[in-house]
Amino acid sequence: MKEKMDKIKNEALALIDSATNTAELNDVRVKYLGKSGEISALMRDMAGVPKEERPMVGKLVNEVRFAVEEALSKKTELLAQAEKVARLKAEEIDVTLPAIGNEMGTLHPLTIVKNELIDIFAGMGFSVVEGPEIESDLYNFQLLNVPKDHPARDMQDTFYINDNMVLRTQTSAVQARVMTTEKPPIRIVCPGKVYRSDDDASHSPIFNQFEGLAVDKHITMGDLKGCLETFAQKIFSKDTKVRLRPSYFPFTEPSVEVDVTCAMCHGKGCRICKGTGWVEILGAGIVNPVVLDMCGIDSKEYSGFAFGFGIDRIAMIKYGIPNIKMLYENDERFLKQFN
Ligand code: PHE
Repeated sequence: MKEKMDKIKNEALALIDSATNTAELNDVRVKYLGKSGEISALMRDMAGVPKEERPMVGKLVNEVRFAVEEALSKKTELLAQAEKVARLKAEEIDVTLPAIGNEMGTLHPLTIVKNELIDIFAGMGFSVVEGPEIESDLYNFQLLNVPKDHPARDMQDTFYINDNMVLRTQTSAVQARVMTTEKPPIRIVCPGKVYRSDDDASHSPIFNQFEGLAVDKHITMGDLKGCLETFAQKIFSKDTKVRLRPSYFPFTEPSVEVDVTCAMCHGKGCRICKGTGWVEILGAGIVNPVVLDMCGIDSKEYSGFAFGFGIDRIAMIKYGIPNIKMLYENDERFLKQFN
C-alpha cells in the first residue's frame, strides 16, 4: 500500500510540475482528487485495511493528499501569474508611437460661400427662406409671369416631372411662395439647389442659386444697385465696381444683367474676364407689377426689386475654379483646399 501511495504521489507531482496551463492543471486535479480520482480511491481502499493499521495508513493517505493539494495550489498560482504577465505583454501599448490622427472634415466651398452670402445679406436686413426642390409649375413659372407655352420658357431647359411639376429651375419659386403668403415689407434671400438640363464647363444640371427679393413702398432701381454694390464689395473686394446692363426677364421690368469688375485683374483685363475687365454675375430688376398683382400684392402701393445668381459662379470667380464640375465631384484633394 505504501508503495502504491508513493507511486501515485510521485506521478501526480510530476504531472503537476509539467502542466503548462490552468486547463491541464485542472485535469490533474480531477484525475487524482476528483470523486473517482486515484487518491479518493485510496480513501475507499481503507475499508480493506486491518483495523490496527488504519490510523497509520490513513495518515499516509492524508499526507499524499495534502502534498498533491499543496503542489496544485502552488502551481495554480504560478501559472496564473505567468498568464497575467503574458496577457499584459500582449496588451502592451507603446505610448511613444505617433498617434493615429482623426481626419477632420472641411466645409464644402459652396457652403463656405453660401454662409458668407447669408451673413452679408442678413447684415442688410434680409432673412433666409427655403422651399421645395420639386416645385409646382405655378410657383416656378406661372406666378412669375411665365404662362404655359410662353416662349420665355425656352430661357431655362426644364426637367418636367409631369405637366404640373418640375425640378425647380430657379429659387425665384420661393419668392413667389413668400409673396402669396406674406404682406410687405418683405426682405428675403433664397439659397438652394436648382436644376436645368445644361452641361458644360460653366453649367451643371444641378447648381446652387441665391436669389433675393425686397418689396416695400418706394423701392427703386437705386436701392437695387446700392444693395448689389454692398454685396459685391463684401464678397469680392472693396474696390469692386458694379455695372447694370439692360436685359429681359419675364418677372422683372425693367430687367438688368449685372457685371462686376474682374476679381482677378481688378478691371485691367485678363484671361478670366476675356480682356474686358468685367464679369457677368447675375440677373436682376424691378419686380414686374404683374407679378406683384398675381401674388396678391397691390402694385399701386408697393414696388420691389429682385436679383438672382449662382453660388457656384461666385465660388468659381472667388477661388479661381476653372470648371463647375469640380464643385460636384467631391474629390478630397480639391475640397481640402478651402479651409
Ligand atoms: N431667376 C433668374 C434666373 O435664374 C435670375 C433672376 C432673379 C433675374 C431675379 C431677375 C430677377 O435666371
